Amino acid sequence: MLQERIEGKWLAAFRRVLALNGIGKGTPIAILSETQSRPVLVHLCELAAYDLGAEFCMIQMPTPPQTAPVPVKSTGTSWAIQGNRAVIEALKRVDVIVDCTVEGLIHAPEWPEIEEAGRTRLLVITNEHPEILERTEPRAEHGPKVELGIRMLREASEMRVTSALGTNLVVDLRGAPCGGTAGFGTTPGSVAHWPGGLCLAFPGKNAVNGRIVMGVGDMNLTFKTYLTSQIDFTIENDFVTAIRGDGIDALHLREYMEAWGDRNAYGMSHVGWGMNPGARWVSAAMYDKRDMQAVEFRALAGSFLWSTGANQYAGRYTLGHFDLPMRNCTIALDGRVVVKDGVLQGELAP
Ligand SMILES: [Fe+2]
Repeated sequence: MLQERIEGKWLAAFRRVLALNGIGKGTPIAILSETQSRPVLVHLCELAAYDLGAEFCMIQMPTPPQTAPVPVKSTGTSWAIQGNRAVIEALKRVDVIVDCTVEGLIHAPEWPEIEEAGRTRLLVITNEHPEILERTEPRAEHGPKVELGIRMLREASEMRVTSALGTNLVVDLRGAPCGGTAGFGTTPGSVAHWPGGLCLAFPGKNAVNGRIVMGVGDMNLTFKTYLTSQIDFTIENDFVTAIRGDGIDALHLREYMEAWGDRNAYGMSHVGWGMNPGARWVSAAMYDKRDMQAVEFRALAGSFLWSTGANQYAGRYTLGHFDLPMRNCTIALDGRVVVKDGVLQGELAP
């Protein structure tokens, strides 16, 4: 069993990552956590902030009650702030939120207001065991390739995703907000998470059509499982309209989606690919679910990542969210192949 204690090597990694995020002597930061946060992560952030000489405060919220009809995991939507005015105002007055909430503030309802105040940036320490963070540590040299990938997405009008299993998806990227992170940022409003290394787009309305066939070994990150059977999705005008498959994977996914009683849970959220050279498919076979937030698998180099659920840019809000990374796909932007059979190509290749 892995122990959760301060190790010198992890403290050194936290120091490096905070420094890479522009945190140094006198930088005003807030370390935000909740009562269900992983204590070792909060502690490592505290010690690293102290060592770096940051001017820091620590804010801890009580983990809020559950409101959803089913358990919710690994969504990137933390409700920990709970609209608390004092906390929101405090977070507007720091340069960096070092975010140790369980789910992370990326899609939190309070983040847009904090961002718009113009000062704060976000560094999400995802709820992984430190051993996973150690292996996927963001490094400065990852930045340019991730930036290039985001630029390629932004400049493209169409993404086509195909696979030997029968995936054939067309995404209209025109006007789609594109983003991603290598795991660090130093400008107000930037959103970084550790592990980082992904490029993604939020397609607009009537932008996604086709078929996605997920195969054995692809992943469902809400459940933190590898698929052991195929799931065959039909997507029409941004919505999953059919989920076929006889295995437990299709069954679970169908029932979980139905439980929301919300058509928007079937909508497309984001599409993109991973770029983290330290992320490994096999990793989930080596760790207990309690050791993972499974952000590593969103960043697997050369994987196609798609998701269902909230897409604010298409005007759809819902709590249901699946992140679904796939191996062995080919991704083309306006006909130019950027990922071939699950391998990053050309300038994006490691
Ligand atoms: Fe997602």
